[in-house]
Amino acid sequence: MSDSAPAPHVPTDTAALPHGAMPLLGFGTWQIKGHEAADATAVALQSGYRHLDTATVYGNEGEVGAGLERSGVARDDVFVTTKCPPNRADDAIGTLRRSLDLLGTDHVDLWLIHWPGGGSQVDLWRSFVEARELGLARDIGVSNFDVAALDEVTSATDVAPAVNQIEWSPLLFDAAVLDAHRERGIVLEGYSALRGGTLEHPAVVSVAERLGRTPAQVIVRWHLQHGVVVIPKSRQAERIRRNADVGDFELPADDMSALDALGGQQG
Ligand SMILES: NC(=O)c1ccc[n+]([C@@H]2O[C@H](COP(=O)([O-])OP(=O)(O)OC[C@H]3O[C@@H](n4cnc5c(N)ncnc54)[C@H](OP(=O)(O)O)[C@@H]3O)[C@@H](O)[C@H]2O)c1
Repeated sequence: MSDSAPAPHVPTDTAALPHGAMPLLGFGTWQIKGHEAADATAVALQSGYRHLDTATVYGNEGEVGAGLERSGVARDDVFVTTKCPPNRADDAIGTLRRSLDLLGTDHVDLWLIHWPGGGSQVDLWRSFVEARELGLARDIGVSNFDVAALDEVTSATDVAPAVNQIEWSPLLFDAAVLDAHRERGIVLEGYSALRGGTLEHPAVVSVAERLGRTPAQVIVRWHLQHGVVVIPKSRQAERIRRNADVGDFELPADDMSALDALGGQQG
């Protein structure tokens, strides 16, 4: 990113969690490793992102932590998420402590069960509740859970996941899924929104051209206006910056409806 690039208009919208406020825009870090992960994390924070998404299995928590430190942005001003794979259920708290060491922090803002392993996730979820009580994670949630799995862990513990991170984009839009999360007070966080042909879809391209924006900016904006968390990933500084430069425009209601309707076309 050149020093002369205009400052992006980064949105500051948040979703309320039981114990904090989650910025609706975050920076995804899957498949960025080594020095690239530290560089991209620092660029994202210097561009105005205030939310980072990593995971034990990404193998980059150390570099994400290094990028956070190098960025000059205070740890307390950044919402940090990491995730625990279900095969670490026997030592979940130990796994989180290793994540914290790598990230260089004494707590994460959100800790997620990365995906449901075989069988019930209730025992692992109890460890998550314990981690929250220990102050190692401000909020706790899940990823790739269906509604039945959300209800199972909630009814067993009386603690609902704060967030469910699932694959989500206009092509996957399903109002019933969004409503099911809202009814339960669970924040829907989307991932891989820019993959799967979304950026090239003619309806997305047409909205982008008419508004003078990039397809990626339209997709990010669509999430924000639904109150859904979005975590675009890029290795490229200019894309990192532009993907976040969406705080100064709105999608008209007709465009929101047209993008929502793409989900219904997936059969
Ligand atoms: N919980 C889970 O199971 C799960 C699964 C998948 C992802 N995630 C999280 O969600 C984040 C986002 O998902 P994702 O990484 O799968 O995909 P994504 O952010 O939807 O898309 C990333 C891809 O789009 C490209 N890209 C980014 N900005 C672009 C732009 N403006 N124009 C054109 N191409 C662009 C990137 O290439 P360049 O890097 O070359 O720009 C990369 O190939 C992940 O990084 C991770 O944090 C979670």
